[in-house]
Amino acid sequence: MENLVISDFKLGIIAGGQLGKMLVLAAANWDVKTLVLDREDHCPASDVCTRFVKGDPHSFEDVYNFGKQVDMLTFEIESVNIEAVKKLKAEGIRIHPDPGALEIIQDKGMQKHFYQKNRIPTARFQIFESEDSIKEAIGDGTISFPFVQKLRTGGYDGRGVAVIKSPADMHLLLKGASVIEEKIQIAKEISVIAARNQRGEVRCFPVVEMVFNEEANLVEKLICPSSIDSEKQQEAITLATQVIEAFELQGLLAVEMFLDKEEKIWVNESAPRTHNSGHHTIESVITSQFEQQLRAIFNFSLGSTHLKLPAVMINLLGEPGYEGDVKYEGLTECMAIEGVKFHLYGKKISKPYRKMGHATILGTTIERAIERADIVKNQLKITAWQKQS
Ligand SMILES: Nc1ncnc2c1ncn2[C@@H]1O[C@H](COP(=O)(O)OP(=O)(O)O)[C@@H](O)[C@H]1O
Ligand SMILES: [Mg+2]
Repeated sequence: MENLVISDFKLGIIAGGQLGKMLVLAAANWDVKTLVLDREDHCPASDVCTRFVKGDPHSFEDVYNFGKQVDMLTFEIESVNIEAVKKLKAEGIRIHPDPGALEIIQDKGMQKHFYQKNRIPTARFQIFESEDSIKEAIGDGTISFPFVQKLRTGGYDGRGVAVIKSPADMHLLLKGASVIEEKIQIAKEISVIAARNQRGEVRCFPVVEMVFNEEANLVEKLICPSSIDSEKQQEAITLATQVIEAFELQGLLAVEMFLDKEEKIWVNESAPRTHNSGHHTIESVITSQFEQQLRAIFNFSLGSTHLKLPAVMINLLGEPGYEGDVKYEGLTECMAIEGVKFHLYGKKISKPYRKMGHATILGTTIERAIERADIVKNQLKITAWQKQS
């Protein structure tokens, strides 16, 4: 595959958010040209890619025309026009991950069926066409409280998911075709990013653990190594390997899992791409997730996933109460702390809770890294030049 890395090789990336930007930067280390398709002129990848193409990843024409200009197509998001990528594949364009895996993952219902068929442990589920059919099933006892509702398509970052604990939560029920899942008694949420090349070689990154802020009910930080015992970590890695092999996927697959209170691991969902839970790999692992995606899709040997240093990742969100031209307060102080690495996505406007960047914080021990991350969290404020009343 070495002959793919030549000066005029064009890698097409669908969507140019922060993950796309970091993939472009990794490709720039090799002799690979990058074309990025995104709806927004000023998306994070637009300034760093070789050529930016404005277009909608959901539009058949935009995706098809974009695919015709590149030698290989890959993705930053899974929500893309599937008919266009299927047609491009039929016309001989190399697409990784394969449209077949993408199509299953796009639909949470098909994804759950896939796990069931492949004997991957996942929360018990049923599929419903509408809100009314869910209400009916509650009425006749087919569904019992508590449960989790997920829209089959279009959800992300918790949007499209409703946790219905009791009849009092019924107003939270979402409209649309959904998966209804048994609510798992979660002890920890963890993730493993697996990579697989065309030869079937698989490598997984170390387990990452999400640490929640109980008060805000938000993920506050991601830590690696995880605090769960090493046998359980190995089990999670074995599961992620099984999932990527079941999909026969060439590329990267981020597998989100739950460790329940009885120490059983369940696969929640997978993303066929780089993932927030792999941000830290840029600084803390021998091979970053972005380089690994390139290695996998170009069918090179996969890189070492050895953790060089413990790491914490925190998201940098816009402060509530501010909207306008972004202003970073406390950056100078935070830069003075050892092991703090900022990634600012270049979004011009800050809004309450908008994800403006992330920081990876390294330490010789995970405790040290967590201490430093907590300082950054308290000191860095992303506000705007004019305060809104
Ligand atoms: N079966 C479940 N039991 C308990 N909590 C769940 C379950 N499914 C999802 N959740 C909670 O909802 C969150 C979002 O669900 P997820 O399926 O990962 O959707 P998204 O695509 O928004 O990431 C999970 O990270 C977890 O906290
Ligand atoms: Mg998720």
